[in-house]
Amino acid sequence: MNILIIYAHPSNKSFTYKVLQTLLKALNMSNHQVEVSDLHKMKFQSDMTEEEYDREGFAKIELPLFEDVIAEHRKIDWADCIVFLYPVWWSDCPAKMKGWFDRVYSAGYAYGYNQNGEKVIKMKQIKLGLVICTAGHPNDFLKETGIAGSMRNVMLDDRLGVRFEKKEMIILGGTLELEKVANSHLEKIMNIGMNMDEFCETLKK
Ligand SMILES: Cc1cc2nc3c(=O)[nH]c(=O)nc-3n(C[C@H](O)[C@H](O)[C@H](O)COP(=O)(O)O)c2cc1C
Repeated sequence: MNILIIYAHPSNKSFTYKVLQTLLKALNMSNHQVEVSDLHKMKFQSDMTEEEYDREGFAKIELPLFEDVIAEHRKIDWADCIVFLYPVWWSDCPAKMKGWFDRVYSAGYAYGYNQNGEKVIKMKQIKLGLVICTAGHPNDFLKETGIAGSMRNVMLDDRLGVRFEKKEMIILGGTLELEKVANSHLEKIMNIGMNMDEFCETLKK
């Protein structure tokens, strides 16, 4: 598969970076084609400018898009699978990644209608959308408080939505006590990365 990883973490000393390295190792070993949008390294502009808002806010799809947004569209067009990898910050993805959705999911590409009210979506439906996030709280706590459910609703049902045929969210929780969870989390990611096609097959549409 052609796999695009959208990655947001500012530090290479982080556990989330270790997860990225493990995933890359596994995917390379299983002969997938991989491209990474490392949003911090790219200094990806996550704030929408006024000029962009004038286009997006009023769905003026005839107005031009910024080059960095077009570059992300090209990567999406190439991908069979997109992995979103990030730490949970205040019960959501970091602002850097949220800004990726704000700007890259542009009107006329990821959603929108023309003047005749017809749907205009250029983005193809992608086979698999996989969200992997690290979290300080344990998974049980995130589940019991409803936070895990909210994160799934927002990421999978809304942001990934109908643009992906199959979707899954993996929460690697409990990182406040990292030594207790690190090995099993990295093992899990290694297994998924080594068996990406099979993993995709097991998911419901
Ligand atoms: C600004 C900030 C906000 C955070 N908010 C949450 C949160 O809402 N829920 C949670 O479980 N963990 C939260 N954490 C903990 C991170 O999710 C956790 O440290 C990270 O996933 C794993 O560590 P890493 O930064 O070494 O990759 C937060 C951490 C930071 C720095």
